[in-house]
Amino acid sequence: MSSADEQDGQGSHHGVNASYYALRSEALVALCVEKGIFTEEELEATGAALDARSPKDGARVVARAWVDPEFKKRLIAVPEFAIQELGYSLHETVTRLAVMENTDMVHYVAVCTLCSCYPRSILGRPPDWYKGFAYRSRVVGNPRAVMREFGFEPDKSIEVRVMDSTADLRYLILPRRPANTEHMSEEELAELVTQESMIGVTGALEPKPATVAD
Ligand SMILES: [Fe+2]
Repeated sequence: MSSADEQDGQGSHHGVNASYYALRSEALVALCVEKGIFTEEELEATGAALDARSPKDGARVVARAWVDPEFKKRLIAVPEFAIQELGYSLHETVTRLAVMENTDMVHYVAVCTLCSCYPRSILGRPPDWYKGFAYRSRVVGNPRAVMREFGFEPDKSIEVRVMDSTADLRYLILPRRPANTEHMSEEELAELVTQESMIGVTGALEPKPATVAD
């Protein structure tokens, strides 16, 4: 990621130099196509694959882990293989995925301090704030303050660990299953799993209070 991204503070290419970056990006693509590194069709297919994924996909993986302890073991041990059981796979360029389980002892939160590395193969594109300089710098120094801004405060007894993603290693945070969800189906549980909770800046949503049945 370029130094200009650092300077504009948001990791965005849409500042005053937008046309410069658009031109540079086009030139890079043209060069890569010319050199046979990839074809325009492959580039389009990669973009389409990214757009086909959203946090709903990650939520399916999390909900399955909540209801199936054996799947959870496999997911944590070798996530690259376990996600294939649900029809997902890592993009060719990413070699490793790590699944970090949040517990009553430790709470993980993911960041890419350098740019915007993110488990796109399961979660789709990252939110803008994840790419922003403010998050990338602040979550490392004071993760609890950042989580508080998301409305989330892990208990003081819980150790908070910040995981720094790289081009080769992406993190999927496995949020804790909320209490009082024993009666819920896997599909209903997936509704409680948010993008934020899979980055670790919040926990999963609490279930809506059950309506009183007679
Ligand atoms: Fe990165």
